[in-house]
Amino acid sequence: MSKILVATQKPFAPLAVEKIREICDKASFELVLLEKYPDKSDLIRAVAGAQALIIRSDKVDRDVLEAGTDLKIVVRAGAGYDNVDLKAATDNGIVVMNTPGQNSNAVAELAMGMMVYSARNMFNGSSGTELFGKKLGIHGYGNVGKHVTRIAKGFDMEVFTFHPRKSDDEIIKDGLIPLGSIKELYETCQYISLNIPAREENLKLVGYNLLSSMPEGGTLVNTARKEVIDEEGLMMAMEKRNDFRYLSDIEPECKPDMTEKYAGRYFFTPKKMGAQTAEANINAGIAAANQIVGFINNGDATFQVNK
Ligand code: 3PG
Repeated sequence: MSKILVATQKPFAPLAVEKIREICDKASFELVLLEKYPDKSDLIRAVAGAQALIIRSDKVDRDVLEAGTDLKIVVRAGAGYDNVDLKAATDNGIVVMNTPGQNSNAVAELAMGMMVYSARNMFNGSSGTELFGKKLGIHGYGNVGKHVTRIAKGFDMEVFTFHPRKSDDEIIKDGLIPLGSIKELYETCQYISLNIPAREENLKLVGYNLLSSMPEGGTLVNTARKEVIDEEGLMMAMEKRNDFRYLSDIEPECKPDMTEKYAGRYFFTPKKMGAQTAEANINAGIAAANQIVGFINNGDATFQVNK
């Protein structure tokens, strides 16, 4: 009987676990649950004997992968797989997949919530502004960017993007206004929703030059990874422009400095909250379990991210 380990330091909603269990039962796979584990050594112990592993942002490095001597597949229930050592997985003949799109609406709703929160001055009782008619730039027009666009258009925002691999016609057809570069996107839009993956080429991509070029009231909403921000540049932008704001789904490294100097112009979730809804957990959990059954039973490697 194949054993599937679900290892989540930040657990799925209970209903998501129930759904994963149903899929495992139907396929006659054994489900083992490891939640809120305090240390990597717990994961290393638990992965021994498992053929498949479902994780969220849990770190799966070479030690974990090598301890999983029976491991055939790891599915990151979510979009970003920067927490998995892909090279080590490939070296050990282990397939890694993600579940793209399954939690994107939840992330997009959080991004919009943060925009409203900022426009209303963090609900501090003072007179704020509206999103209606404002310019929003989508930096990273993938699954999350598409949902942000859909919701923002409900607020009657003007939505812009730059996409190096999409034609202007495709972007216009989706209801956005195409721009010629990332620089132009930041120069044009008061609000930016940052949704790019933490790939090598994106690390520290957003810094002083882009941020300082934003129009009056420039607000960066980051629901991507903190690693895509050049924090030195961010702090410079906060220092030079007292109208600039930064809201992020996770605390940056510069949090102590930020809290000391720029009260009222930032907001951080205490831990990554974008995908932390019952619906997102259910969608991503079900997709992960189904992808494992499809791979083990039929060799279906759709959504494999290491080749
Ligand atoms: C993702 O990459 O899918 C999101 O960052 C969500 O991560 P989480 O599952 O750890 O909340």
